[in-house]
Amino acid sequence: MTAQLIDGKAIAARLRQQIAQRVAERRQQGLRAPGLAVILVGSDPASQVYVSHKRKDCEEVGFLSQAYDLPASTSQDELMALIDRLNDDPSIDGILVQLPLPEHLDASLLLERIRPDKDVDGFHPYNIGRLAQRMPLLRPCTPKGIMTLLQSTGVDLYGMHAVVVGASNIVGRPMAMELLLAGCTVTVTHRFTKDLPTHVGQADIVVVAAGKPGLVKGEWIKEGAIVIDVGINRQADGKLIGDVVYETALPRAGWITPVPGGVGPMTRAGLLENTLHAAEHLHN
Ligand code: GUN
Repeated sequence: MTAQLIDGKAIAARLRQQIAQRVAERRQQGLRAPGLAVILVGSDPASQVYVSHKRKDCEEVGFLSQAYDLPASTSQDELMALIDRLNDDPSIDGILVQLPLPEHLDASLLLERIRPDKDVDGFHPYNIGRLAQRMPLLRPCTPKGIMTLLQSTGVDLYGMHAVVVGASNIVGRPMAMELLLAGCTVTVTHRFTKDLPTHVGQADIVVVAAGKPGLVKGEWIKEGAIVIDVGINRQADGKLIGDVVYETALPRAGWITPVPGGVGPMTRAGLLENTLHAAEHLHN
């Protein structure tokens, strides 16, 4: 057996097309284009790449994109003031602060300063709380994109055992809440978990977001499982690899996401969806 590929790149491209169409309709009706402000502090090379992709996506679908590229020395107060200004700007529907931030900055305080209805990353405690209480509003982009990928397989998710590897605020925790909301039985594993291979081996769905290249071995995967690899790790030769050993997982899995071209494009599409949603339903 060999797994079927879940083509995130193609699914994200279709979503962008639909969003572009909706933006064009808005413009024809005399409504403004959705606006996204992306704040990058410092010069982390990976963050620079991610942010440039997000800005390019905005252009493609016809959003207004505001770029704030700030030096690593930017103070907490300066960033708080910028967020306040964007919170009050009626042309801006979404505010994104790219993470990680330089060490002297308090990310939690900054994320909480963003108005919840402009929190298109879905990281504000208000939006996380809404998801936890089964009434999601702006949903974290990576887990949201992964739910779209899972739905694209046509597999009935109710009652499936989903194992999430990694318990970060950005992916693992909200991912567990999304899977629970979708009717899965959910296990969350993390750095202190004992016997990770046994947990992974019981999964009908495994979502790996540990940031450790090749952490999950193909031999651990249950025959026919859906494997979602969130890892994006750059090797010394420049090649991108995931957190799952792809070559050995491929013959065991039922479905699998490639790296690159799986989850990454869906995170970006989720951001566009959230920004459009904020413009259409939260800022009319
Ligand atoms: N850094 C890594 N992933 C993300 C994300 O989804 N949003 C933001 N703001 N920063 C990130």
